[in-house]
Amino acid sequence: MFSTKICCIGAGYVGGPTMAMIAKKCPNVRVEVVDINADRIAAWNSDQLPVYEPGLDEIVSEARGTNLFFTTGVEAAIKHADIIFVSVNTPTKTYGLGANRAADLRFVESVARVIAENADESKIIVEKSTIPVRTAEAIRSILETSGSGHAHQVLSNPEFLAEGTAVSDLENPDRILIGGETTPEGQVAIERLAGVYGAWVPQERIIRTNLWSSELAKLVANAFLAQRISSINSISALCEATEADVDEVANAIGTDSRIGPKFLKASVGFGGSCFQKDVLNLVYLCGHFGLPEVAEYWESVITMNQWQKKRFADSVVQAFFNTVSNKRLAVLGFAFKKDTNDTRETPAIDVCKQLFEEQASLAIYDPKVETDKIYRDLAVSEDEPRLEVCDSAADAVNGANAILIITEWDEFKALDFEALYDSMVKPAWIFDGRNLLDHAKLRMIGFKVRSIGKPLK
Ligand code: UDX
Ligand code: UDX
Repeated sequence: MFSTKICCIGAGYVGGPTMAMIAKKCPNVRVEVVDINADRIAAWNSDQLPVYEPGLDEIVSEARGTNLFFTTGVEAAIKHADIIFVSVNTPTKTYGLGANRAADLRFVESVARVIAENADESKIIVEKSTIPVRTAEAIRSILETSGSGHAHQVLSNPEFLAEGTAVSDLENPDRILIGGETTPEGQVAIERLAGVYGAWVPQERIIRTNLWSSELAKLVANAFLAQRISSINSISALCEATEADVDEVANAIGTDSRIGPKFLKASVGFGGSCFQKDVLNLVYLCGHFGLPEVAEYWESVITMNQWQKKRFADSVVQAFFNTVSNKRLAVLGFAFKKDTNDTRETPAIDVCKQLFEEQASLAIYDPKVETDKIYRDLAVSEDEPRLEVCDSAADAVNGANAILIITEWDEFKALDFEALYDSMVKPAWIFDGRNLLDHAKLRMIGFKVRSIGKPLK
């Protein structure tokens, strides 16, 4: 009944939504998503999906049980599949050679071994996880040495979706990138995978490359995006010093079609599981291949981001004459961007930790992030009196000296700031880390306002 059987190892932010979209668009393809984490699989099979993405619930509930399945049966799924996606996490290595820079490939490696042991015929193995260049070679050598002699094809098919917009990014991608071997067998494998995406993506948007270009292009795409944010954030500091307005500067340069308007929003700093990890990975690769100047160039993207987060927290402390000890600071937003419950590398962590060390009391509210995740991320115990996680923005702000906007959630724009102002200790401050709010209006109410890259008033 099914023309192709797909298995995806890793039911995370990437694997889950991507497979749900393939299942939706390809009714003749059977998709099984497997994960070693049984709780995560149980959540994918429930009404409370483990990943919050607008529009995802509908897609999953439509396809689940028909041609989309979530299980923990890794071995069986490998045996049945024609195409195996590897979408496990590849965090930055925290130990040994390449610590704090190189990607930790132990999950990818162990998955390659499980595939080798369980694949009883030739398979197409697709790297979905972002990985260092030439990882396909490592996977291939594991398959060849520990397998039963079947000739598998390894493809690179990086994912470019952004969290919060995953469903529309998957439905209407700028491009699909597929890298494979230049041999006839490699080309056949590329076309087989291109055929799956061809069900909804126009052929001219499916880019075919060699394996190494595809692997590298993913790292470079994220590095360029991160670099744009660090560039505009560096200019935000200069704007504050010169009374230029960073949003006006961004708009003025963004209308140049060679520069373009996207990814020029100055902020408290970029977060997310990918940007820092992938830039560090690129830095490591450059060092490994004897290119220290190139490594240093890209490393500065991270340095600027760290400085921007610190600069924001410093500005809060400075506004209170260098001490926030026992001040109540309402932190609005903890996710690394709006429309996600993901907190990986969120600037909220660095900002909150710094202010917590300065002895501030923090009252945090985020519409989607789970309370226990916030305590875990900040490494603070739940009975710590200086940290409170609140159920609403109004609760967090009540009795506070300042509001800090860390995530650009739409609901923060619609808050009743007059009522919030009345409930605060005066002078009442707002530090807008996303330039989200109407600052002139806030000043009319009586707030003292600081934002990113705007003249200090
Ligand atoms: C991850 C990587 O971070 C990213 O670089 C890559 O592009 C795609 O995969 P994400 O989906 O956000 O992104 O990761 P995560 O949400 O951590 O999901 C990975 C899943 O793999 C986890 O649920 C984990 O339990 C699972 N896993 C990990 C396995 O099933 N088997 C393993 O051996 C290791
Ligand atoms: C990113 C890439 O966009 C995506 O293609 C890749 O597959 C994974 O990494 P993601 O991390 O989900 O996606 O979100 P993204 O929208 O890129 O935002 C990353 C961070 O940059 C967020 O913290 C966001 O708030 C910040 N950002 C983004 C800015 O500060 N300013 C901007 O102009 C854009």
